[in-house]
Amino acid sequence: MTTTHEAGWAHAAGALRGPTWLRQPADPNDLVPQLWSSTARKAEGVLSVGGVSLPDLVAEHGSPAYVLDEADFRARAGAFRDAFAAYDVYYAGKAFLSTAVARWVAEEGLCLDVCSGGELSVAERAGFPMARVGFHGNNKSVAELTRAVRLGVGRIIVDSFDEIERLAAITAELGATVSVMVRVTAGVEAHTHEYIATAHEDQKFGFSIASGDALEAVRRVTATPGLEILGLHSHIGSQIFDSSGFEVAARRVLALHAQVREEVGVTMPEMDLGGGFGIAYTTQDDPSDPAQLATEMTKIVEHECRALGIEEPRLSIEPGRAIVGPAMCTVYEVGTVKRVRLDGGAVRTYVSVDGGMSDNIRTALYDADYSCTLASRASAAVPVLGRVVGKHCEAGDVVVKDEFVPADLAPGDLLAVPGTGAYCRSMASNYNHLLRPPVVAVRDGVARVVVRRETEDDLLATDLG
Ligand code: LLP
Repeated sequence: MTTTHEAGWAHAAGALRGPTWLRQPADPNDLVPQLWSSTARKAEGVLSVGGVSLPDLVAEHGSPAYVLDEADFRARAGAFRDAFAAYDVYYAGKAFLSTAVARWVAEEGLCLDVCSGGELSVAERAGFPMARVGFHGNNKSVAELTRAVRLGVGRIIVDSFDEIERLAAITAELGATVSVMVRVTAGVEAHTHEYIATAHEDQKFGFSIASGDALEAVRRVTATPGLEILGLHSHIGSQIFDSSGFEVAARRVLALHAQVREEVGVTMPEMDLGGGFGIAYTTQDDPSDPAQLATEMTKIVEHECRALGIEEPRLSIEPGRAIVGPAMCTVYEVGTVKRVRLDGGAVRTYVSVDGGMSDNIRTALYDADYSCTLASRASAAVPVLGRVVGKHCEAGDVVVKDEFVPADLAPGDLLAVPGTGAYCRSMASNYNHLLRPPVVAVRDGVARVVVRRETEDDLLATDLG
């Protein structure tokens, strides 16, 4: 058994290779461009985004920090708007929402999907045009629905018979009329993590098409005076690459759309096909661009409508991750580096950073893969397989499971993880009483804090002793 090597531990036989998809880079200083926002650059090892060097950003704003590339966000939003020009594009705020982002979404001409009173309040504070807001959720409260109706949101996507009754009572009381979509489950097994697949039968969302509940929900909505049926809504899951799931779902939802025309005598003007378009977290992922997605989806819908002999409804989609995911990265400071000898003699380099599962729960929750790069200097050291872990009291507190990092990585170095725009800050917690990091927007050499770092006073504000 060889556990040592004259050139050092990093060269020992049995050095870890990691998962089969992980390629050992010729030079670990290089960025893998498809994983980073469009303005990310490295010069002599120093990473900059939006013309702002990350070491400078950390010197001013501390670490960890989420770094949001405004130009990249706007470009992705604009690419969806242009590719889906015949559709309405709703940015799914659950991926990440702040008032600045809501304003960018409005300025880029997109609509906004919110799914709670809290997200609605961000839209309200940002002055987002309410007619362009869609309100989601499987358990909206009377207070949330009342507020949405009062604010005049453009559409409420109903998800249960209870909610239809609730909304009927609210609109009757306020003397209001609201446009409604009926969320349906198409019975599709989307090829993604079980927790983020949403259109198979045995889960909480929507009305089942197969059981007849979806048709019954449409009947009840059309029979309710304050509710105007806009159309059907289907969202099959998240981080999906394969268009076959969308195809099967679209076919089933359009068949129901045609059935409603036949049996209820109502031609619904719209249809929403949800979000879920996958992005590249690592070199394993090969996402389609918005233009390809638009071509595929349009072809599927045109074909089905022709076969059913119906007019095409106006379509909408709800991308969240595909717009904000690649636009953000997280920068951390390395605190400790530990070489852990495994059975067989190989060494795994554990790199502890100053955040973890409280700012990115996706690795622990979905077994998600991420990558990272040294952001503060160039290194001539050989690449070794590292695991980036957080500072929480939990062994599963992993940020990046496997990545080649320079063997001389040391405390004080900065590491940056790309692709953290979606479902990282929005799912962040105060586990172990850590402070949630700020979101710093960068553009044309200027850094602007759009969500500030929490303070210990924030943490203690809700503790009444
Ligand atoms: N529309 C609806 C109705 C949704 O439920 C979702 C996501 C979206 C649109 C946006 O999906 P996207 O384009 O962002 O994939 N926390 C999980 C993802 C949960 C997705 C929830 N719904 C994750 O981190 O992967």
